[in-house]
Amino acid sequence: MNNPNVKPADGKLGIMVVGLGAVTSTFMTGVLMARKGLAKPVGSMTQMDKIRVGKGADKKYLSYSEIVPMAQLSDVVFGAWDVYPANAFQSAMYAQVLQEKDILPVKDELEKIVPMPAAFDKNFAKRLDGDNVKKCKDRWDMVEQLRADIRKFKADNGCSRIVVAWAASTEIYVAPNMKVHDTLAHLEAAMKANDTVNIAPSMCYAYAALAEGAPFVMGAPNTTVDIPAMWEMSEKLCVPIAGKDFKTGQTLVKSGFAPIIGTRCLGLTGWFSTNILGNRDGLVLDEPANFRTKEVSKLSTLESILTADNQPDLYTDYYHKVRINYYPPRNDSKESWDNIDIFGWMGYPMQIKINFLCRDSILAAPVLLDLCLLSDLAARAGKSGTQRFLSFFLKAPMHDYTKGEEPVNHLFQQYTMLKNAIREMGGYEPDEEID
Ligand SMILES: NC(=O)c1ccc[n+]([C@@H]2O[C@H](COP(=O)([O-])OP(=O)(O)OC[C@H]3O[C@@H](n4cnc5c(N)ncnc54)[C@H](O)[C@@H]3O)[C@@H](O)[C@H]2O)c1
Repeated sequence: MNNPNVKPADGKLGIMVVGLGAVTSTFMTGVLMARKGLAKPVGSMTQMDKIRVGKGADKKYLSYSEIVPMAQLSDVVFGAWDVYPANAFQSAMYAQVLQEKDILPVKDELEKIVPMPAAFDKNFAKRLDGDNVKKCKDRWDMVEQLRADIRKFKADNGCSRIVVAWAASTEIYVAPNMKVHDTLAHLEAAMKANDTVNIAPSMCYAYAALAEGAPFVMGAPNTTVDIPAMWEMSEKLCVPIAGKDFKTGQTLVKSGFAPIIGTRCLGLTGWFSTNILGNRDGLVLDEPANFRTKEVSKLSTLESILTADNQPDLYTDYYHKVRINYYPPRNDSKESWDNIDIFGWMGYPMQIKINFLCRDSILAAPVLLDLCLLSDLAARAGKSGTQRFLSFFLKAPMHDYTKGEEPVNHLFQQYTMLKNAIREMGGYEPDEEID
């Protein structure tokens, strides 16, 4: 904690989550249980990881909060919005991710987390039909109502800072439109003109958060803050943004496994990834327009790790396919299969099969926690714009595609970026190479 340029984490941090479904209720329950000493925050980098600082005889391994001033779990207050009125306890029970024994000790606290009415438009998620929804004249009114929610929540709970994170359903794919999403002025004009095609509800949440000085995290693959207008707003108001899409099961494996093929100079002819899952997320993704958003995000991982530009003999024209299939019996216990067709010496083919029986929300909850706490840290460090050091947690890390910038998807490069950023914010040298 040597860096005087990072403000201390004084007071309470309000974490306001859009969507109080499986991921959010698992996240909140885990944090509340951890702060009672009844569970360990396994999988959370901010709570468990240690980073080396110094070299040689001076080297030591410190936790994040020993290097930088982090918000403590005991200082966190939760808020949420959802289309359905269920409180966090009911939502955790409905999701069936956690067993009752792991929820009941914090039942009272969870019951107090009652979702505010959602800023919602059924055209963006046709399979949802809850009625806990705001009545909005237009998209600008939607923004104004959300801003009022954030201000009220902050005042009612005595928070010194707020972070807003999207862990709501994946919206239909909104392709960046360079007549609307290119500048902040155009974005605001479209909101005021009630352009319900180009302005997704998620953009209203993001706009409202940034306008209230709260960092915004996009945990779904929505293009919400992945547009120049939002980058401009984030820079102008000096508030960080991060996204998009929590990197949890199959893509985590992919971003960690593809480097094995790349570093060993093996060739790739195809990578077929398929999943079954049966939670509400799976139901929404069963709709082709919503799946399209996810597909774009999931496909991007491999292409930036194994590139034909670098290795035309090894990675030209490989076939990459990703499928998600809704299969209710599995609920949140997702199963994924990866079939990888590779080739070796003299072009001889080989296959690798990966079968991951994971739990979606168990993997996503710590990622949501880390993204919120680290976005809060970034804000106190005076950072703005896309926080590329958070790429480690994201399936489709945001980057300035208008300038030909490349995303970093390689898990170990992402980890180096994360560690170097923490070191720097802590006043240490960023002393690892990203290559
Ligand atoms: N679990 C994972 O491993 C994982 C990984 C990456 C991304 N995600 C994304 O995280 C999100 C949440 O996943 P989940 O499993 O908790 O889903 P879920 O369906 O259990 O919960 C999502 C909730 O969002 C609510 N919602 C939808 N639109 C809303 C709006 N406009 N305003 C407020 N609430 C709204 C829904 O009513 C629902 O309760 C999804 O977009 C999913 O794709 C999850």
